[in-house]
Amino acid sequence: MKINQLIEKTGAVTIEQNELLISGIRTEDLLEMYGSPLYVYCEDVIRDHCRRLKNAVSYPHFSINYSMKANSTIALLKIIREEGLSVDVMSPGEIYCATLAGFKKEEIFFVSNNVDLQEFAYAKEHDIRISVDSLSQLEMFGKAFSGSKVAVRINPGIGDGHHKKVITGGDATKFGIHVSHLDSIKEIAKKYDLHIHGLNMHIGSNFLEYGSYMAAGKVLCDIAKNFDSLEFIDIGGGLGVNYKEGNKGLDIEGLGSNMDRLFNQFAIEYGKEIKFFIEPGRFIVAESGLLLTRVCSRKENPNRTYIGCDSGFNVLMRPMAYGSYHEIVHCQSVEGERETLSVVGNICETGDILAENRALPKVNVDNVLAILDAGAYGYSMASNYNSRLRPAELLVTSAGERQIIRKRDELTDLISSQLVNNEPVG
Ligand SMILES: Cc1ncc(COP(=O)(O)O)c(C=O)c1O
Repeated sequence: MKINQLIEKTGAVTIEQNELLISGIRTEDLLEMYGSPLYVYCEDVIRDHCRRLKNAVSYPHFSINYSMKANSTIALLKIIREEGLSVDVMSPGEIYCATLAGFKKEEIFFVSNNVDLQEFAYAKEHDIRISVDSLSQLEMFGKAFSGSKVAVRINPGIGDGHHKKVITGGDATKFGIHVSHLDSIKEIAKKYDLHIHGLNMHIGSNFLEYGSYMAAGKVLCDIAKNFDSLEFIDIGGGLGVNYKEGNKGLDIEGLGSNMDRLFNQFAIEYGKEIKFFIEPGRFIVAESGLLLTRVCSRKENPNRTYIGCDSGFNVLMRPMAYGSYHEIVHCQSVEGERETLSVVGNICETGDILAENRALPKVNVDNVLAILDAGAYGYSMASNYNSRLRPAELLVTSAGERQIIRKRDELTDLISSQLVNNEPVG
């Protein structure tokens, strides 16, 4: 079972007498303490994934920019920074949170997409490296900040990823500047005296084979030879996670050797060892996180049994947005005779389905389900849709301590920014 892989990586999760415990505590007790649903993260796993990736590459000027859109909770960012990673950000809000987590300006890379001048200005004020995503954004940037350094995001013509909505290279994507526009990049740069100091790409999210990633990296390196004073190349994120039991995970060590080969070869051909970045999000945090949710109803329709829990797509969006699969563990009966169940949430939409026709040990009201691999694009995509409260986040530290790293929303959070007749509400 997939849960055993997590148990191997962390002392935070155990199974005793067929029951899933977290830091030795029953899950229903945790939900009593912190409210249901509840995100739980295991520090061990985050550190392990940072180290595994760092150790896979030996090129001396390599850095990993954690893509904080995957999870931007500050306590987790601090752990990731302690492991020596930098960050990739995509908004002033992420710059703000990264700075609060302790990242220095030179450790932050703003990979922008369709931003207004104010967002560029915010990044410039904070002296943060910026990448622009289109010729018109390069014009906008150049007009306002002539004489600056800037990076450009290239679409290398190759995409990959777990769903068409997250493939960000190739023909059907809004991202990056097309290879056929290299001359225009140079013209705009010349017009505004911009120094193109970096190239970046990101071809998509959650690939489990690295062939396309490396092929696109090679394309980017070939393009880079058209620019004579680059300081860095960023080949993006997307490193996949094995959500389904039995799937082969991404071969990180194999990927690392391929990256070393690409980076060293480029250094020879370019005549200089420039910096290389990657920007993984999911790989760093996904497997560290569990979402605990309480079962509130069991409905036996003629053709389908629904297990209704208190966690809808406002809490975990991925199944609804991408049809994503997350392994589910019955916390009170980890192993047991299985029945076919559809696990659904408490949001007022038929699409609010966490798992369809899943074989699970018999589930009853008041049981707790643990949804695995929920650390990435879980809380960071959560919302207050249906005026529901977003859950708390709990960290189980490597020392086995429990720390609440985000409080559960309160009802007053729903109205805290609202006004009626220019007056605060409530
Ligand atoms: C520009 C960019 N970099 C990095 C990432 C991180 O992707 P992943 O979490 O799959 O590694 C994303 C994800 O959307 C992205 O858009």
